[in-house]
Amino acid sequence: MDLSTTIAGVRFPSCFMNASGALCVTREELLALGRSCAGAIVTKSMTVEPRDGNSTPRYYGFSGGSINSMGLPNLGYRAYAELIPELKRLGKPVIASVAGLCEDDFPTIAAMIDAAKPDLIEVNLSCPNIPGKPQIGYDAEASERLLKRVRKVITVPMGVKLPPYFDPAHHSAMGAVISRCGVDFLNLINSVGNGLVVDPEREVVVIKPKGGFGGLGGSIIKPVALANVRAFWKIFEGRMPIIGTGGVVNGVDAFEHLLCGASAVQIGTVLVEEGLGVFRRLETELTEQLDKKGYKKLEDCRGKLKEL
Ligand code: SIN
Repeated sequence: MDLSTTIAGVRFPSCFMNASGALCVTREELLALGRSCAGAIVTKSMTVEPRDGNSTPRYYGFSGGSINSMGLPNLGYRAYAELIPELKRLGKPVIASVAGLCEDDFPTIAAMIDAAKPDLIEVNLSCPNIPGKPQIGYDAEASERLLKRVRKVITVPMGVKLPPYFDPAHHSAMGAVISRCGVDFLNLINSVGNGLVVDPEREVVVIKPKGGFGGLGGSIIKPVALANVRAFWKIFEGRMPIIGTGGVVNGVDAFEHLLCGASAVQIGTVLVEEGLGVFRRLETELTEQLDKKGYKKLEDCRGKLKEL
């Protein structure tokens, strides 16, 4: 089955791609994504200067999910700007993920990375793992200010990666911000911060940074991710392309994201745990699911979730 999809006018050969952070920091990892069955290459969220990230252990996988506090380890925007032409030659869209340690970093990085012409830019307002720096996406005013600044310097389609919201009032407030900032697509959701995983045997936390607090991913966050995809799909009445991220481990999970309104699906925890071969498995499983349900293509089920 054709699992290609289009987001903000850019065609993706498959609806599955890596979530920023999963196997996408180094040149080697990015090239490997390009050679895999992934539908795109999404870079690690970049900062102005290269970063080693938080102290280790900073990722822990458990049955049902993961917790991480990576702390934005990345090569710095200059290295990604240099890499983008090489990545684009691999024949699939490149999404550059832009972060920052302060508000002024975002437009600086956005302008420089835009000049390297990635196919799309994703502005990450939702990293939960920088000690002392709250997630910008939980501050509507700061988000609006920042998005208006980056919008002025970004010429390619601009998306926003949001944190999970847990109340319809917050979905509406952020929806209003998004609608005023010229956003072309949304990526929902980043990891659920700040969780705490405990090893009861050793009576200890499982990751080192921030006393063990970190972003949750994997199956356990799927209902939160689906709720956010659905809420924003409804707010924008199906007109805002959405990448659904969170809790996708098999083809049926991806199908659920599509039903809620996603146009594409990103994977983090399952990619880290299973490696690049996961893309082929997910494509096979989603094809089986769509066949079983009698859908001929992705768009036929997008947003079609029924209510009781
Ligand atoms: C990290 O590097 O800590 C994760 C980035 C993110 O969740 O946005």
